[in-house]
Amino acid sequence: MRILVTGGAGYIGSHTTLALLEAGHEVVVVDNLANASAESLHRVSELAGRRAVLERVDLTDEAGLEDTFSEHRPEAVIHFGGLKAVGESARIPLDYYYNNTAGTVALLRVMARFGVKSMVFSSSATVYGDRNPYPYTEDMEIGAMNPYGRTKEQIEDILTDIGAADDAWRIGLLRYFNPVGAHESGRIGEDPQGIPNNLMPFIAQVAVGRREKLQIFGDDYDTQDGTCLRDYIHVVDLAEGHLAALEYVTEHPGVHRWNLGGGAGTSVLEMLRAFEAACGKTLPYEFAPRRAGDLPAFWADASKAKEELGWQASRTIETMCADHWRWQSANPNGYAA
Ligand code: WQD
Repeated sequence: MRILVTGGAGYIGSHTTLALLEAGHEVVVVDNLANASAESLHRVSELAGRRAVLERVDLTDEAGLEDTFSEHRPEAVIHFGGLKAVGESARIPLDYYYNNTAGTVALLRVMARFGVKSMVFSSSATVYGDRNPYPYTEDMEIGAMNPYGRTKEQIEDILTDIGAADDAWRIGLLRYFNPVGAHESGRIGEDPQGIPNNLMPFIAQVAVGRREKLQIFGDDYDTQDGTCLRDYIHVVDLAEGHLAALEYVTEHPGVHRWNLGGGAGTSVLEMLRAFEAACGKTLPYEFAPRRAGDLPAFWADASKAKEELGWQASRTIETMCADHWRWQSANPNGYAA
């Protein structure tokens, strides 16, 4: 199939683009490169032995999207494009509502005009908010606690309403937990701009000498070692989940939701120790005050994806750390030369 991938130059987008190319699909990436490098796609093409076309278009540029659809005639869309930092979203909420929510509406309007009604959407476990018992299941009431999460929730609602109004739409909503790791080649990986918000890239940058020490936000949570538990999932497992969801929605009209997670919690300290084992170094850290908005623990019930998509996360924490370290140690400054 000809697949248009928004945000395809980004971390999860580039890994999914590689998996699509390897599965024989043609891929057109739409990315404004605001938070990604075109180098990631050069390397994806090198790894796949086939090119992914890059169209540098902003999702809010409806005319630019029209030109892209007119030229490339995609048959389905995998939609990653958007801003994704929880803390930043509280500081500049309007940018998040414009880029994420309004940008998605522009994309959907162009898709409808070109008769493209298959979409896999990158949603997030953050939509579950702080009211649900874990493990989270897809039928739970959602309620995000920050502007970033609310844009994901709004987009899920928009897609649900579109699917209810026109049963020609085939939509998969994928709620990710915590993506980490990198392709085994070490050629592509996570390259956050500025100081990493997330745990794994921060640990990796300490290991490679870019950051002085890890600050662990809170050691007094009601967990086995006092640090928060999260459901970490290897980014290649995640990419494979997108291909499984695309295949499913191609056969099944309607709107479908799946958690993409491993189904278990790993603590911050456990992840730090696993990364030390992977990089062969003792990594400096200190305990710091809790971070506002952090939940003590949550993880996925991923049984629906297993039953319906035949998909489950398979790569271990050790593999996540080994692959992440191979990428970071080979690319200390990410994609920057
Ligand atoms: C994990 C744990 C931190 C950094 C976020 C988004 C979510 C999704 C995934 C997009 C927490 C601790 C972190 C550090 C630390 N993103 N930590 N020191 O918060 O579970 O989820 O990323 O969809 O929407 O909310 O991930 O990696 O930021 O934090 O101690 O320097 O690591 O307190 O307990 P989180 P995270």
